[in-house]
Amino acid sequence: MSVAETPDPTGTAPARRLTLTVNGRPREVSCEDRQLLVEVIREQLNLKGTHVGCLNGDCGACTVELDGRIVKSCLLLAASAEGAEITTVDAMGSPGDLSPIQEAFWDNDGFQCGFCLPGHLFAARELIRSHPDPSDDEIRQAIAGNLCRCTGYQRIVASIRDAAARVRGCAAAGES
Ligand code: FES
Repeated sequence: MSVAETPDPTGTAPARRLTLTVNGRPREVSCEDRQLLVEVIREQLNLKGTHVGCLNGDCGACTVELDGRIVKSCLLLAASAEGAEITTVDAMGSPGDLSPIQEAFWDNDGFQCGFCLPGHLFAARELIRSHPDPSDDEIRQAIAGNLCRCTGYQRIVASIRDAAARVRGCAAAGES
């Protein structure tokens, strides 16, 4: 991957110009070599739905999709995402137009504070793509990399079970 170097106005560190597609839109940002993808997403792109928790790969709050696979954006340098397609939770739905997976979490009280929600929503979406009718064990395995301090996980499992049913219903009806 090539990343264009641009002069650093402060003279302290080389700034890199990074070209990405974020939530379907081409974006160009400047970053330093040491900057994490989650920092660029939140600070430069102002997409605050992606959360910063542990910064250690344990909690999943920073989860995004990169080229169609979920990743923890605190574990990636932004420069390594040059040319990538990134989807953040901000693009999953909106308050008046929730996705079926978001609706299932809402209706089943699948979150409380909401901090862990990006990771659980993306884990659910990836699981349902490959396992349209997942067992509870498969659901628990899929969310194993995400920590929630509020719900005790039972409601998250119920939410994903319901989300899978809703996505199957949409597929049967020919809806996306
Ligand atoms: Fe990235 Fe916790 S902030 S996994």
